[in-house]
Order: sequence, then C-alpha cells, then structure tokens
Amino acid sequence: MKFGHFDDEHREYVIETPKTPLPWINYLGSKEFFSLISNTCGGYTFYKDAKLLRLTRYRYNDVPMDINGKYFYIKDGDTVWNPGWKPTQTELDEYECRHGIGYSKFKGVKNGVRAESLAFVPVNDNCEVTRLVVTNDSSVTKNISIFSYVEWCLWNADDDSRNFQRNFSTGEVEVKGSTIYHKTEYRERRNHYAIYSVNAPITAFDTARDSFLGLYHYAADPEAVFNGKLTNSMASGWSPIAAHQLDVTLQPGESKSYVFVLGYIENPVEDKWESHNVINKKPAEAMLAKYDTDAKVDAAFAELNEQWDKLLNIYTVDSSNDKVNRMVNIWNQYQCMVTFNMSRSASYYESGIGRGMGFRDSCQDLLGFVHLIPDRARERIIDIASTQFQDGRAYHQYQPLTKKGNSDIGSGFGDDPLWLIAGTSAYIRETGDATILDEMVPFDNDMSVAETLMEHLRRSFGYVDTHRGPHNLPLIGRADWNDCLNLNCHSVQPGESFQTFGPSEGPVAESVFIGGMFVKYGNEYADLCDLKGLTDEAAKVRKSVAEMNDILLDSNAGWDGEWFVRAYDSYGNKVGGNECEEGKIFIEPQGFCVLAGVGVESGQAQQALDSVKKHLDTKYGVMILQPAYTVYHEELGEVSSYPPGYKENAGIFCHNNPWVSIAETVIGRGDRAFEVYKKTCPAYTEEISEIHRTEPYIYCQMVAGADAKFHGEGKNSWLTGTAAWTFVNISQYILGVYPTLNGLSVDPCVPADFGDFSVKRVYRGVEYDISVKQNGVQKGVKELIVDGVKVEGTVIPYDASRKTVKVEVVMG
Ligand code: GLC
Ligand code: GLC
Repeated sequence: MKFGHFDDEHREYVIETPKTPLPWINYLGSKEFFSLISNTCGGYTFYKDAKLLRLTRYRYNDVPMDINGKYFYIKDGDTVWNPGWKPTQTELDEYECRHGIGYSKFKGVKNGVRAESLAFVPVNDNCEVTRLVVTNDSSVTKNISIFSYVEWCLWNADDDSRNFQRNFSTGEVEVKGSTIYHKTEYRERRNHYAIYSVNAPITAFDTARDSFLGLYHYAADPEAVFNGKLTNSMASGWSPIAAHQLDVTLQPGESKSYVFVLGYIENPVEDKWESHNVINKKPAEAMLAKYDTDAKVDAAFAELNEQWDKLLNIYTVDSSNDKVNRMVNIWNQYQCMVTFNMSRSASYYESGIGRGMGFRDSCQDLLGFVHLIPDRARERIIDIASTQFQDGRAYHQYQPLTKKGNSDIGSGFGDDPLWLIAGTSAYIRETGDATILDEMVPFDNDMSVAETLMEHLRRSFGYVDTHRGPHNLPLIGRADWNDCLNLNCHSVQPGESFQTFGPSEGPVAESVFIGGMFVKYGNEYADLCDLKGLTDEAAKVRKSVAEMNDILLDSNAGWDGEWFVRAYDSYGNKVGGNECEEGKIFIEPQGFCVLAGVGVESGQAQQALDSVKKHLDTKYGVMILQPAYTVYHEELGEVSSYPPGYKENAGIFCHNNPWVSIAETVIGRGDRAFEVYKKTCPAYTEEISEIHRTEPYIYCQMVAGADAKFHGEGKNSWLTGTAAWTFVNISQYILGVYPTLNGLSVDPCVPADFGDFSVKRVYRGVEYDISVKQNGVQKGVKELIVDGVKVEGTVIPYDASRKTVKVEVVMG
C-alpha cells in the first residue's frame, strides 16, 4: 500500500495523507543551518551542531508521535486548522506534502480556504524561509486569523531536556515590530540569538508558552488561538516561544502571501548591544531584508534548485527501469548528501545529542558523496585523519564543532584504520588529486607530531597487519564494522556500554571480516604506493594481502566449509560457523571477502554467496545472521542482546546488503545482484509502505528480520551508511561506471532483461556520454568505443583536453 507517489519531474515525493505509518521527514539546509521537517510540519532546527546550538525544541518519543514543530494555525470562524494537519488534526478537505530536494511544500484546504507553504534554507544563509500563501477559493469574503508557533530550545539540547532547576529561570526575549528575538543567555556568555519574523505587520504576538497554549492545554488546542487573540506576552524564564497573529481579509479568489523567517544571528562580542541589555539587531534586520518580498524568495529558491541541478547532473542514468532512474538520479544521491551533512547526529531516531561523527561512518559516507563535493570530501578526510593515533588506531568518534576525538568512546575498533584508506582511495580515484597524500596531518589533533596523509595510511595498514591473533587473522578489538560483536567485552551488568566496557583489545578474538577489508583496502593502498612510485612498498603490501587471501580461504582459519567464518571469540571459538548452535552464518564476511575478490578463482566466492541465498535471504532483504541468538552470550556481547530479528541480531541490516549485491557483480551474476538491490530499495518497497513504514524515498538502517514479530518493518531512517553503499553498488558495480586511478572504467553487471541504457558522468572535468548495448548479457564488455575509436579493456583513457567524450559499450 502506498501513501503517496513519486513526482520525478519535480524531484519530489508527494505524500497524499498526513496519516503516514511514521513521520516521513525531509532535511532543509546544506551548510551550517539545518531543519528537519516532517509531513505534518513537525521537526526542529539547529545551527552547525544539533546538540550545542539547537534553535527549536523537539520532544522525542512524545505522544502522539512527532508533536513539536513549526506550525501555522488558521482560525476561520469557529474552525481552527493546520495546513499540515497537526497539531489540531482538524480533518482537511485537501492535504498534500511534497518533500523535494532541500525543500518541502504543503497544501491544506479547509472550508474554501487554501493554505500553501514552501519551506527551505537558502544556499548561503543561516535561516529557514517559509512562504505561506492563503487563498480564498470560496464565493464569500473570508476574515481569518493566521497564527505561527515555534517553541525555542535553550540552545544546548541536552541540558534543555533535563536541567530544569536552571532552565525555568533563564529564558529571555525581545520583540520589535514583527520580529521575536530569542536571547536566552545572550546577556552572559553567548553572542548569538535566534529570530522568528514575518514580513507583514502583526496584530499581536506571544512569547510565553503558557500564555499561548494556556496552562492546561496542548499544541493541539492552544487557548490564545481558539480565543482568536494572542496576548502579547513577554517571556521571563519558563518556556519562551514565538507566535505571531495576522488578521487577514480575503475577497473571493484573493490570495495573500507572507514570508516567515526563522534565523540564527551571531554578533561580534564587542558589538553585542545596541544599548543597555538591548541586543544589536542590525544583522537580523539585514537578514530579514533579504527575504521580505516574494520576488526575493523566488530568487533564493531558484538558487537552491540550481545548486541541486548542478550536483545531480554529475551522475545520471537513463534506463528502461523508472525505479532505478529515480533512485540513482535523485533520491539515493540526495540521501548521500544528507549523511554527509548529518553523519549520525540528527534524525528522528538520532536525537542530535548522542553520537558525534563516526570514524568508520564518515569514511564510508564519503564513498557516496565524493563525486558531488570533492573539495569538502578532501577537508573531511583531513579532519578524520587528524583524529588518528600515531600507532594507526583511531578515535571511534569525533565532535563536529571541535573536530577533536571523543575520549568517552575512545579507540580500539579493529576495522577503523582501514576505512581511512577506503575514503582516501575513493577521493583520489574520483579527482586524480594525489597531492592530498602529501598533506601534513596531525595525530590526535597534535600538529607537532604531524605526518603526511600517506604516512597515516601506512600506519592504518600497518596496524592491522601487525595486530593478528592465533589464526593470523586481524584482531577485532572492541568490535569491527558490526558494533555489536563485542568479543572482548564480557559484560554481565546492565547499563555497561558494550562498546566501551572491558579491555579494548584482547590477544585472541579475531575478525574474518577485517581480513576481507584488509584484502580490499590493502590492494587499494598498494595502488596508492604505486602512484607515489613506492614500488617496493607496493610489493610488500601485496604480499601481505596475498597471504591474508590464503588465510581467509583456509579451512583452519577463515573458511568454514560452505561459507566464511565471521570471527573467533576471546576463547578462540568460532563465531559464524556450522558448529555454532546460533549465529552459524553471518552476512558481512561473505559480502566483503567476495567483493574484495577472495575465493573467486577457487569457487569459494560463489559457494559463500549461494550460502547467503540459502540461509540469510528473505523477501525483504538479506539478514545479518542466522539462526538468531535467542539467549544472551556474554562472550559475544551486544549482538545477542537484541530480541531475535532486530538490529544486529538477525535483522536485515540494509548497510551490508549492497556488499552482497556488489559481491554478486564480482562473480558476474547480474540477475542476483539486482534481486538483492531491489529488496531494500525504497522505490520498490514503496509498494509495501504499510509494512515497511519508513519513508519510501530513502533508506533506513534496519528492516526487521524473519525472526521478528514485525518482519519487514523498517527502522532508523535516513542516517545510515546504506545510502553511500547502495549508491556505490548501483552506480559503480551494477551500472558499472567505476572511477579508477587512471580513468573511468565501464563494466556493467545487470539483469539479463535490463535492456540498453545510458549514463552521463562528469568526471575530472570531462563529460562522458556512455551508452550501453546490453544484448541480454549479465556481464562482460565485448567492445569499448571511445569517440569512435576502439579501446582495449574497460577503462576509458583519461584525456583532460576533452570537454565531452562519447562512449559506446557493447556487452557480450
Ligand atoms: C550503526 C553504526 C555503524 C555500524 C553499524 C553496525 O549503523 O553507525 O558504525 O557499523 O551500526 O553495527
Ligand atoms: C548500538 C547499535 C548499533 C550502533 C551502536 C552505536 O550498538 O546496535 O547499530 O552502531 O549502538 O554505538
């Protein structure tokens, strides 16, 4: 069942009912000022850091769900309604929400009044602009009142949600004209405030929540709104808000337009005040002047759309499959940009006060956005590498504002070092910019011990190479990609963090998965050595990689008989072997070892993937492990803490489904690669939105596995490495346009019935117009013709002097 539809021409998902199975949200903002906005106008806003500089308050896990946001109320006679349905939930005559790329539009119609809004964050500004247009579609004159409402957060969202003994006394505001200034703590150490304004004279306002709602009311029935009269309250402590009242007369057919601006303003410390305790409003007034007419809003909106046109023109596909086209050309890339902006900080499931930037998460996100914003990818790589330790390990997370490693969680995750190679290699393959390897980068943010980025990568590889266990496999440490495989933790007390309790390292527990990464990224590192002319080092690295390859295929180490082992626990027992009662087979090593090329020649690769299909496949995607753990295993950690079928305990973890799909392309099975791709693909799961529940235009982190009560139900939408990996899968492996160090390679692996298709790819300044004749073949390039000239192999020789290059690929 669907709750809306795709409008590909406008790059929008059109939600047709406010009663979606979960809030379906969108992100506004692309640099420093961000808003989350749901299909019923819920959400919140922050500047740079969702924890420290939160503008508006949100209550997670509230009832009914998703109840705070940026609301407009319309009072028309005795009827009070919201264009986005919530919070009053007054039944609307018409409702529509269009989530677009960096903007959201709403339409609500009630009793002949139509309210249409457009909300977006302008490209280079620290504000959210909402234009609200009200139209009288009836044949009588309408006298209505419009009310706006936002609730301020007292900046630090964490403190705001618990330190009430202080917070109920700190709130302060000013009001001037139609602008409400939120200036809590400005009098002391802050030099920033927030504004909410409208470009028209107002009848009244409120800034104290109790006056607006009434002491015993909810956002669903604000007293002042139902009375038709705001009270001009001035907040003093408690909960400051911003609410405007506009009294509007509309003749039949008449429309009126209002522009609301919610903004963040910073003043130089010496310029904070206009007079004693009166804040300097000049920068706020300048900001408001930029959006005080419809024409200015139109121009700012056009600029935003142009920015996205440019970004989304870098990789486009034209195939006979609409779903693939819309995911590749629009939504998958959009989600990659959102994961770049948010990492894992602020979503409807990540509360913005918890996790910082993950080392491994950020490196993997990069794989999905590096072609869009290579300069910012470069900066990101340097930031990440700066949190590495001298021995090659890394802080598992860092804080976005300070960019310093987070000592609460510390280090010791065995996979982290290798992800830095993955990200750097992707950047150089995309841009050709090898100078990044010569950048001097600090260790643990200490510039006095800086070394080149190349040296950082050397230490990454070296750390894993020299930290092996009894089977000569890499040590796992606190965990590897699977944060819940905590083999050294041995926690038996509730509340202890599985990721930080116990020793960070043990000499026995090993990860086969990291072995697969070692092959994949060891090879990429060796290629970088070659690029730097370090042929001896490259040879040494390749030798180590070849040894690891053998260890992985050895039935006394990495190979179990029909699939790859997952790990060895701290007693040296197998995790993910046929001899295990629960957790016999895991997805990660099957996907990753094979995508690294391990076992392709020996046939073990195919065997491993056949085992995946046999033991882990479901109609909703491939599960992370089977059989699910039904009892808690102290020697395995968090993986066995979840009820069967959820999260890392046999859930369908969407992030590693593309690994399996990529692995299938490596052995040339396009039908199966695409089947795996389809199962978690939003454009396909849209049809079962009542089961899947999360947004049908983007990926979620996890879908409940076969053991779960709600098999097929998605959770944790938006901020997941799934976005990057599925984009890598579909764009580089299935459609097969893969950036190598020497140029673009075209080697598709598609279903037999996929049909001919074409890809436009802007790469290192050259536009490639690639058309593929598929000939019913799943994999194999028979002919590669570049500007009419036949070329051997699959790599298009890079020639910077060309503006556009025409490429014909004949499969066979
Ligand atoms: C979460 C984490 C990611 C981890 C995954 C599997 O998505 O953000 O780092 O790899 O879970 O445990
Ligand atoms: C929990 C989650 C996992 C996530 C981790 C982050 O272990 O199950 O998905 O990566 O927390 O710390």
